[in-house]
Amino acid sequence: MVARVSTVAFQGIEGVPVDVQVMVAPGKIGMQIVGLPDKAVAESRERVQAALHASGLVLPPKRVTINLAPADLPKEGSHFDLPIALGLMAALGAIPADALADFVVIGELNLDGSIAAVAGALPAAIGANALGKGLICPAESGPEAAWAGEGMDILAPRSLIALANHFRGTQVLSRPVPAVRASPANLPDLADIKGQESAKRALEVAAAGGHNLLMVGPPGSGKSMLAARLPSILPTLSPTELLDVSMIHSVAGQLSGGKLSDRRPFRTPHHSATMAALVGGGLRARPGEASLAHHGVLFLDELPEFQPQVLDALRQPLETGECIIARANHRVSYPASFQLIAAMNPCRCGMAGEPGQTCARGIRCAADYQARISGPMMDRIDIRIDVPAVTAVDLIRPMPAERSADVARRVERARERQRERFQALDIPGIALNARAPTSMIEALAEPDAGALQLLRDAAEKFRFSARGYHRVLKVARTLADLDGSEKLGRIHLAEAISYRIPSDRLMAVA
Ligand SMILES: Nc1ncnc2c1ncn2[C@@H]1O[C@H](COP(=O)(O)OP(=O)(O)OP(=O)(O)O)[C@@H](O)[C@H]1O
Ligand SMILES: [Mg+2]
Repeated sequence: MVARVSTVAFQGIEGVPVDVQVMVAPGKIGMQIVGLPDKAVAESRERVQAALHASGLVLPPKRVTINLAPADLPKEGSHFDLPIALGLMAALGAIPADALADFVVIGELNLDGSIAAVAGALPAAIGANALGKGLICPAESGPEAAWAGEGMDILAPRSLIALANHFRGTQVLSRPVPAVRASPANLPDLADIKGQESAKRALEVAAAGGHNLLMVGPPGSGKSMLAARLPSILPTLSPTELLDVSMIHSVAGQLSGGKLSDRRPFRTPHHSATMAALVGGGLRARPGEASLAHHGVLFLDELPEFQPQVLDALRQPLETGECIIARANHRVSYPASFQLIAAMNPCRCGMAGEPGQTCARGIRCAADYQARISGPMMDRIDIRIDVPAVTAVDLIRPMPAERSADVARRVERARERQRERFQALDIPGIALNARAPTSMIEALAEPDAGALQLLRDAAEKFRFSARGYHRVLKVARTLADLDGSEKLGRIHLAEAISYRIPSDRLMAVA
């Protein structure tokens, strides 16, 4: 007899249905797993045998064959342990075979028969719900899976024995409840930053429209400090965004305790990050930092210190909003619609462009350092600002600084205006000016005659690329939204153009 259990294999953030078929037949004693298992799946044979033994089930001296169908789909991960064990238990009559028919099963087994947490419970639960099935998952992943739907059946046992008892009716497992991670109460506040008014303004504009931002300045001027305060002015995730983001974090195994958070992701990879760490992939495909920053912020501090090839790998996701990883036998894609915030010194010694300072290595100091960032990468950055050293006056007797909460309110209002406009234009899935499709740019941003003349002159003088031209319009649209104005005026375009043109410190790459 063949027992069947449904499970999933993850491709990107989607769970592809996999059928675990278990047959116990006379023949040479042993257990074999077929169907393109990776090493973790192949090793599940040992874990399953030990866990069944620990749970008091003795395997008969027969030949056990386990097929993971479809046979040509690669299976990765440790979550196949539980479906294999349950298939075996059903084949041996330890649990009723039809009890499993309405469930998708994922989970890793420990040798003592307890069930360990696995990545991907949320997408598995959503996939199961779409098929009209329930989910059996580890106890720790239960709170995460419970988000998939109120009406769906979810069993989150701690051990094989608890699950067998549930099916026998001697011990009932209660449905897990969806859990939320508490927001950190005291995020760093913009009021801590003295002076730097124009940098704070640029940060607000970037937050309002989701624009990419680069801060250039000498060491200790407060660039990292400014970036760290961005989360405090960003609005929380909408319910659909929350689910999108959590799916990615779930597949990456980064939802601690199965709890979801409505804070926008703010990812800060170190500059030693590899390409796989940043855009995803690796031996076992996992979402990278760019995908983990989906609907949030990817902050690259010390931008030129990243490997140039690694940085250039971000060019495609910055444009399309997804990371595509081609592998030998298949290709996976992860959503990666993030806002890039970057900070850098203008040169290796850090002082290029400072009044009264000259680099020991002259012009080459800045040229060589900045050349590590490619032109096309720079072209994708809408707002480039100088963050000069804070003046002594600002440090000693600062002007009263605005608090993050006030800025956050303006950002939220500007975002609301964008949402309403995109809804009126019937563009689904777009909520920020920075993400607006190019074909829509004319409908979004209609500059008046004076503004158009200014843009034409600037585009000629500074040789904007077509992308640059469109992005200036998008930033100007955000500036008008912050102003509460439907019309794009000269003042909005002038500010947007000033953000795009190269400053003294960014001469070499401009
Ligand atoms: N505008 C400011 N207001 C108050 N403190 C500041 C300001 N700028 C810098 N500081 C102080 O200087 C420290 C260093 O700032 P920060 O790390 O942000 O500099 P940075 O511009 O990122 O420098 P680097 O280029 O070396 O990374 C901060 O921890 C803070 O104590
Ligand atoms: Mg810094």
